Amino acid sequence: MNNMYLAERTVHTQAQPIKFRCSDVQVWYGEKHALKDVSVDLQDKTVTAFIGPSGCGKSTFLRCLNRMNDTIPVARVTGQMLLDGDDIYDRRVDPVQLRARVGMVFQKPNPFPKSIYDNVAYGPKIHGLARNKAELDGVVEQALRGAALWDEVKDRLHESGTGLSGGQQQRLCIARAVATAPEVLLMDEPCSALDPIATAQVEELIDELREQFSVVIVTHSMQQAARVSQKTAFFHLGHLVEYGSTDDIFTRPQDPRTESYISGRIG
Ligand SMILES: Nc1ncnc2c1ncn2[C@@H]1O[C@H](COP(=O)(O)OP(=O)(O)O)[C@@H](O)[C@H]1O
Ligand SMILES: [Mg+2]
Repeated sequence: MNNMYLAERTVHTQAQPIKFRCSDVQVWYGEKHALKDVSVDLQDKTVTAFIGPSGCGKSTFLRCLNRMNDTIPVARVTGQMLLDGDDIYDRRVDPVQLRARVGMVFQKPNPFPKSIYDNVAYGPKIHGLARNKAELDGVVEQALRGAALWDEVKDRLHESGTGLSGGQQQRLCIARAVATAPEVLLMDEPCSALDPIATAQVEELIDELREQFSVVIVTHSMQQAARVSQKTAFFHLGHLVEYGSTDDIFTRPQDPRTESYISGRIG
């Protein structure tokens, strides 16, 4: 098998504890059975990539992990998803609290029409993570540093977040998610609206973030999956076909569907 995707990657194979344990997850949109019987364990402090052809259920599964599907009236989710052993679909779980623990970054940068500072301060404020202005300033600075944006914006924190470049806006959205100290960060094609330089910056950032928490990224770019992830899950027609180390998926796929996809025959 051609090894073009792995040429430049550094290989980290250290096993990490399980963060998310998902069993028999199914999703319907009305009559449409979009996700079929997905069981997978996602590791802490690891980047996991979800790959597969358009419409195969990657975003649907990602949205299960922080109950974003709750916001889609026709969506119905069954099965079990345990975060550190606790069922995130338990009636007692507040989805807003859950989404602070399991943050999300979307395809198109979507900063609030507010200042850079307020974009980042919003989450810590509503979740009571700072007791006073000085503490809040510290949380905002730390999140912006964590998203590799501080140096570019420190002198204009009170300007609008929507006035930044696309790549900066996406890093602002990452800072906003990081500000609530998440345990898992979900990213749905976070670079698809970015140019190559901004993409490289976000990919480098993803590699740094996994030292602190688990990152799950949906990507249509196999090169990106190979560059940023240690684990890869391949989805096809609503099934999780194959899950394993990124090196194995790209060099020794076990399923013929995976093999066809990564060699460019389906997609
Ligand atoms: N809100 C929705 N309502 C109805 N069908 C949906 C909705 N979102 C996704 N689907 C359908 O579910 C399937 C999986 O979609 P999705 O998870 O977005 O795939 P992917 O992210 O892999 O491209 C597709 O057939 C899609 O049309
Ligand atoms: Mg999608």
